[in-house]
Amino acid sequence: MLEKFVVRGRNRLRGEVNISGAKNAAVAIIPATILSDGVCTIENIPNINDVTLIARILKEMGADVSMVDKTTMKIDSNGISSPVATCESVKRIRASSYLLGALLGKFHKAKVLSPGGCNFGVRPIDQHLKAFSSLGAKCKVESGVIDIKAEKLIGSSVYMDTVSVGATINALLASVKAEGTTVIENAAKEPHIVDLANFLNSMGADIMGAGTDSIKIKGVKKLGGTTYSIIPDQIEAGTYMVASAITSGDVLIKNVIPKHLESITAKLEEIGAEVTVFSEAVRVKASNVLKKCTIKTMAHPGFPTDMQPQFASLLSVSDGTSIITEGVWENRFKYVEELNKMGANISVEGKVAVIEGTAGKSLIGAPVKAIDLRAGAALILAALTCEGKTTIDNIEQIERGYEDIVFKLSSLGGDIKKVFVPGDESLDLELAL
Ligand code: EPZ
Repeated sequence: MLEKFVVRGRNRLRGEVNISGAKNAAVAIIPATILSDGVCTIENIPNINDVTLIARILKEMGADVSMVDKTTMKIDSNGISSPVATCESVKRIRASSYLLGALLGKFHKAKVLSPGGCNFGVRPIDQHLKAFSSLGAKCKVESGVIDIKAEKLIGSSVYMDTVSVGATINALLASVKAEGTTVIENAAKEPHIVDLANFLNSMGADIMGAGTDSIKIKGVKKLGGTTYSIIPDQIEAGTYMVASAITSGDVLIKNVIPKHLESITAKLEEIGAEVTVFSEAVRVKASNVLKKCTIKTMAHPGFPTDMQPQFASLLSVSDGTSIITEGVWENRFKYVEELNKMGANISVEGKVAVIEGTAGKSLIGAPVKAIDLRAGAALILAALTCEGKTTIDNIEQIERGYEDIVFKLSSLGGDIKKVFVPGDESLDLELAL
């Protein structure tokens, strides 16, 4: 049985949408509970596949994980006795790499299958291993298994050669119970780094400076239980901001932290959308054809790479020639081929995409495939502006990180359905509707 999204475009989105908890915070905070000697209750958990998967991995390792309600998860990781995570699920997501830091921090050893994750080219973990080694661990990678051991963990200075979200998270997890003080220099500053640090501090850790490029961690002996609410998802919010702009809509995006959206807001205003900022919401309106712009993605607080595909869709129907330079990943333009099938005019040279906007002329619905999570979101955004029907394949990629996306877009007036197609691809989708 194949699942597809079928989208019929040209509806202007109108109304209100609630943003869920941040995927990239949740998939770090859930493994971080391994460090706790108590029970952790985590609120505002997004109901998405990546969260279900990382929680399942913890369960398979012996943790007691249960949902108190749709968005509240209770975790008691004290049932985990062996610092080994080599089940198949580990390979499916990048966040599995956080098991290394959490298990090392708790047990002084860890054995984890090499993590998976979206394919943007090589996804090294040299900076993760550098952080562990700085704390006194011995690391080896053999036939796809990362094996780390430490007699004891001693706080030290960790200089990140490249700004890395994952390596900063792993350095935090490995150092919170180390002896002495650790300083992470050239640290990543994303909102989910701050959220993880706040979560760890709520368990009794002593972390200062998260959100800056220098984070100081004073090792503590014990971390207790906690109740903690995850921040709203910056990228989900940005995706709905673009959904309003690309359909010349008028949408109130609720349950957000506007400060996390500043670079997205600035870009939307630069191309002519109207953004009104409230304390916990933003309203995005667009009426005329939007203008061109140039974007260079970079680490926070720069323009987020995870919003790059969504803006490529938006700029494809704007007026003029836009340039997007991908400053974080070596190959994050694979989705362009799919957008061009819908009539976009994007050419890619290395890390630079040149987009000839259609100046408001709509794209054409076509059968396309979600290469990864944000690329899939970009296809939905483009399909919302298309004449005719677009079918999107491989939608589990999208459902990894967007809670209830069909319900949320439909409630804004978007014409999007999830259809189940028997294995035979030739079957006319109409029959399945
Ligand atoms: C996290 O990936 C996110 N994933 C990604 O979001 C996001 O694109 C990325 O951060 C950048 O913001 C999760 O949080 C689960 P990095 P991560 O380590 O941690 C290089 C999404 O759509 N690098 O910050 O893997 C690396 O090659 C996903 O939600 C090293 O060289 O990203 C890249 O060029 C997609 N050595 C750059 O750093 C290392 O040891 C940034 O990578 C680690 C990274």
